[in-house]
Amino acid sequence: MSAAPFVVIGAGQAGLQVCDSLRKLGYAGELVLIGAETSPPYQRPPLSKKFLAGDLEVERLYLRPDSFYAKLDVALHVGREVQRIDREHREIEFTDGHRLAYAKLALTTGARIRPLQCPGVERVDVFYVRTLDDGLRLRARLADVGHVTIVGGGFIGLEVAAMARSLGKEVVLLETLDRLMARAVSPTVSAYFADLHRAHGVELRLACAVRALHDSGSGKLQVSTDHGPDFETGLLVAGIGVVPNAELAIDAGLEGRDGIVVDVHARTADPDIVAAGDCTLHYNGYLARQARLESVQNAVDQAKVAAASMLGQADAYVQVPWFWSDQYDAKLQMAGIGMPFDDCVERGERAGGSFSLFYFRAGRLVGADSINRPVDHMACRKLLAQGTMVVPAEIAREDVDLMQLART
Ligand code: APR
Repeated sequence: MSAAPFVVIGAGQAGLQVCDSLRKLGYAGELVLIGAETSPPYQRPPLSKKFLAGDLEVERLYLRPDSFYAKLDVALHVGREVQRIDREHREIEFTDGHRLAYAKLALTTGARIRPLQCPGVERVDVFYVRTLDDGLRLRARLADVGHVTIVGGGFIGLEVAAMARSLGKEVVLLETLDRLMARAVSPTVSAYFADLHRAHGVELRLACAVRALHDSGSGKLQVSTDHGPDFETGLLVAGIGVVPNAELAIDAGLEGRDGIVVDVHARTADPDIVAAGDCTLHYNGYLARQARLESVQNAVDQAKVAAASMLGQADAYVQVPWFWSDQYDAKLQMAGIGMPFDDCVERGERAGGSFSLFYFRAGRLVGADSINRPVDHMACRKLLAQGTMVVPAEIAREDVDLMQLART
C-alpha cells in the first residue's frame, strides 16, 4: 500500500506556498491541495484595488497557471469543502461524506469577512470584498450605481472608496473609530489619509456607526447613522475586518482562540498537523510574541516554515512583517509593527505626498509607514531584520542614505 499523501486544506496564497515549498525541499510523495472556492489559488489584494475598475481579467489574478499544478504533481481539488478532521484515523472528511487519508496535514484555511450587524441588515444587499466571487459581484454592481456607502475605514474600505471615486461615484465612508486604519498606522498617517480622501471628494464620517438599514425600493437603500442625516445609497460595501477560519482545528481538539494556535515552527500540538497564514495565532519569532497577521508576507513566509516542519525540519518563523495599501496615487507601505511607539521621526515631504514615519520604542526602531517612499520601506525592512541600532535624528536627515545604513 502506498503512503498516504500530504494534504493541504485551503487553496490560497499560503496553501499554494506550502505545496511549492514542499516540492522545493524535495518532497516527492503524493500532494493534495484542497480549496472550498471554485477557483485555483488567486491574488486577493487586487480585488479591492484595480480589479474593481474592470480592466483586469480574472485569469490575471491566478497565482499560477494550470500547468504549474501538473508540473509540480499537485492534485488540486477546488470547490471541495472539508467538514471534519479525524485525527485518530488521520483522515479528513468532506461535506459530501468522502474521506481522504493524510500522512501530514497543513491548514491554510485563511479568514472570512466579519458580517455587518445592524437592524435591517438581513433585508438588504450588503457587499463585501474577500473572495473572487465577492469581487466580481461588487465590480458588476459598482458599474451600475452613482452613490456608494462604505462601512469601515480600514484597508478594504479605503481602497474601495478610492476606486469608487476614480470611477466617478459619490462616496460616503463610515468608520466607528475616530481615525482611519487605526489598527495598523499612527494617528499622523490616519490624518494624512483622511485629508487625502476628503480632498478626493469622499464624505468621511468618523466615530460614526450605522444605526439601521432599510430597503427604499428601486434597488436603493436608506442608511441611518448615529450622527449626521439619513441618506439614500445605491450600494453598501462593508469592510469591517475578518475572522480566522479556525473551526476545523478547534473541532478536532486543537487549540484555537483568535486563530489556530501554532508555535514558531508553524506546528500545532498534533505532530502531523501544521498551519500557516491568516488563520493562525502564531508565535512570531521576529516580534517575540504571539500574533495573528493578515498579509501576503505572513502567508508566504509562514507557509515556507510549515512545509519544512511537515518534512521534520525545524525552521523558525522570524520574518519582519510588512503590508501595503494603494489609495489613489498614494502607495502606503508598512514595515514592522510600529504601534505602540514612544518616539517617531519623519523623513521626506508630507506636503509633496512622499514621506515616511519611523517609529521607535524604548530607543529601538520598530517600524515605519511610508507613503510613496519605497526605498525607505525597503531600508526599514532591512534595518529591522538586522536589528541595526539607528539614531532617530539620523533617519530624519535626507542626506543620510538609509540603504547604506542598512548595509553597515
Ligand atoms: N462600522 C464602521 N466601521 C467599523 C465597524 C462598523 N460596524 N466595525 C469595524 N469597523 C472598522 C474598524 O474600526 C476598522 O477601522 O472597520 C475597519 C476594519 O479594518 P481592518 O480590520 O483593517 O479590516 P478590513 O479593511 O476589512 O480588511 C480585512 O483584508 O485585505 C485584507 O489587509 C486587509 O487584513 C485585512 C483584511
